[in-house]
Amino acid sequence: MTTDTLRIGIAGLGTVGGGVVKILQSNADLITARSGRKIEVVAVSARDKSRDRGFSTDGLRWFDDARDLAADSEIDVVLEMIGGSEGIARDVCEKALSTGKHVVTANKALIAHHGKALAALAAGNNLTLAFEAAVAGGIPVIKTLREGMAANRFFHISGILNGTCNYILTTMEKTGQDFADVLKEAQEKGYAEADPTFDVDGIDTAHKLAIMAGLAFGHAPNMDELPVEGIRSITFDDIRYANELGYRIKLLGVTRMADGHVQQAVYPCMVAKESPLGSVDDAFNAVQLEGDFVGRIFLEGAGAGEGPTASSVVADL
Ligand code: HSE
Repeated sequence: MTTDTLRIGIAGLGTVGGGVVKILQSNADLITARSGRKIEVVAVSARDKSRDRGFSTDGLRWFDDARDLAADSEIDVVLEMIGGSEGIARDVCEKALSTGKHVVTANKALIAHHGKALAALAAGNNLTLAFEAAVAGGIPVIKTLREGMAANRFFHISGILNGTCNYILTTMEKTGQDFADVLKEAQEKGYAEADPTFDVDGIDTAHKLAIMAGLAFGHAPNMDELPVEGIRSITFDDIRYANELGYRIKLLGVTRMADGHVQQAVYPCMVAKESPLGSVDDAFNAVQLEGDFVGRIFLEGAGAGEGPTASSVVADL
């Protein structure tokens, strides 16, 4: 066992960044035993230094500008927990990878739009770019795709990939509440994006689907050829009628290889109530993957929220 401590810098102390600090504090002994070295947060950067986050940042180096944290020579791994496909999040990843640091990110928009270039930058500098938390929160779907199912050709992947939409659809079904009221609850619970239109208009699902399709079919994630429809126009009556016919309405991301072409799309679907995808409630996500030798694999778990998403980030560490 090497005794060198792995020094972490966290850019962004929102829901996920804060969750990472809490896991690393609570499970420090276990994580050290499993990884063979101490993992220690040494530096952080966020917009508001004085905010009460439920943990202390005393003793950690504070950076007002996350780009400076990314460039710091006393950090081994940068966690990019800011979000957004451009601007500071992208700058932080590029700066870290160009100055010798590994990067772990939960940023699906960034990976969907710039994953190929960032992966090339990482590989060129012999560094790792890891993004398990970018797809389906706490479900280890990236590791399943890249490692567990690595021997297979993929035929078909479909999934419920947005916790906010699934929470809205299942809560509307259970309570008859309006779309807007339930969206507010999802925001309060920390599931929704800073801009919730990304959730309800299907864009967040599209980012996650494009990442999975890229890994499964060996091409750069392609957002330009991905038709997207969200759940904004779904009414309680739609949900009720679907229910009477034995279906639930779910926002699905679907990709398949057909005649040598990758097809991918995001849309609300009627899914049989008793099917595995039809039984996934609340903010849970699920992914169904089909490989030529292993057959069908179904993964279900928490797709959003502090603990589950931070769990995937720490797994990458
Ligand atoms: N806003 C996302 C969701 C968070 O609701 O699923 C996790 O990516």
